[in-house]
Amino acid sequence: MTTRRTMLQALAGAALLPSSLPVLAAAAAPEGEALKEIARRKGLRFGTAVGGGRNQFGDPAYRALVERECSIIVAENEMKWQALEPARDAYRFEPADAMLAWAERSKMTMRGHNLFWQAEKWLPAWLAKEDFGADRSRAERLMRKHVQTVCRHYGTRIASWDVVNEAIDPADGKLRQNALTRAFARGAGAIDQIDLAFRLAHEYAPHAQLVYNDYMRGDSGSTKHRAGVLAMLAELKKRGTPIHALGLQAHIGSWDESPERGREDMLQWRRFLDEATAMGYDLLITEFDVNDRRLPADIAQRDAGVAAAARDFLDVTLSYPRLSDFLLWGMADHISWLQTWDEAPRADKLPMRPCPYDAQLRPKPLRQAIADAMRTMPARRA
Ligand code: XIL
Repeated sequence: MTTRRTMLQALAGAALLPSSLPVLAAAAAPEGEALKEIARRKGLRFGTAVGGGRNQFGDPAYRALVERECSIIVAENEMKWQALEPARDAYRFEPADAMLAWAERSKMTMRGHNLFWQAEKWLPAWLAKEDFGADRSRAERLMRKHVQTVCRHYGTRIASWDVVNEAIDPADGKLRQNALTRAFARGAGAIDQIDLAFRLAHEYAPHAQLVYNDYMRGDSGSTKHRAGVLAMLAELKKRGTPIHALGLQAHIGSWDESPERGREDMLQWRRFLDEATAMGYDLLITEFDVNDRRLPADIAQRDAGVAAAARDFLDVTLSYPRLSDFLLWGMADHISWLQTWDEAPRADKLPMRPCPYDAQLRPKPLRQAIADAMRTMPARRA
């Protein structure tokens, strides 16, 4: 006879067996079919960024949520240059390696983010201070060493790299300058440095999808940003630079004070995606979340507004079958970078609700909107 006690013992024993874990997790999931499964049926991979801290990679419940929902991850910070080489020549691969090992054990693939982040404030501090003068070759050697070291370290385990991140200044649509681009001033400037970044990535990771990643949106505040990105992509295409895809960060919602125009913003967004894909680039959504700063404080209203904004954006963006990866920048509200990002806070200072799960890891309307958008999107190319 099975007593309550033996049943509990059996369950406790089963929970220790790794092979039974997915079954238990699926049975316990209140939200039904996993997002990665809905995505997979259409030829899409679904995933998220994971941060190395205590409340993400360090939290077993959060890790279990990621394993349940995702087939692809990216490190939120751990593969950035300043994380991998915080002091010159002093490499620190362990945090990113630990995450990659976990991803592989959990049958998730991992993207690389990023080899070059163009805003000077995000370069390693030791590099931002560097003055190469007119010594372009010294800057080139440094770039080569970085790409060689990182790409050799990861080899084919990383199959997609954000090679260059955020090269365009949204204020004027021009290429950003930093310690590296300045060394290329005698040539064509920043575009030469970007071109070299992709060529190096191709040389040391010839198997990999090479991506240009940026945060332009469809609103009027992003007009110059979109134009600058398209102009850069056109120039690189002309040069035969090995870039395969455009990464759409997709930090959507309200950011600046430009008015939201609804349909018109989506029209501009579609026009932008049409132009990028017409040049032959594939697309990825690399960092999706919804900034709710202009939505009401009331949680039900806010969550509904976030879900509606997501659905509008995803219906357009996922309609491109060239888009085959969809990653969020965090699965749950409490770990979102937006909670501490001071560029676009809520006036009422309430915590933001930009993610599909809340701080207790309960699914929100945004999760439903994501699931619905993926269920209705066209299937990807084989
Ligand atoms: C953010 C991280 O989420 C933060 O933890 C960090 O302090 C700054 O960078 N665009 C990108 C990401 O490409 O790398 C950024 O990540 C968010 C915006």
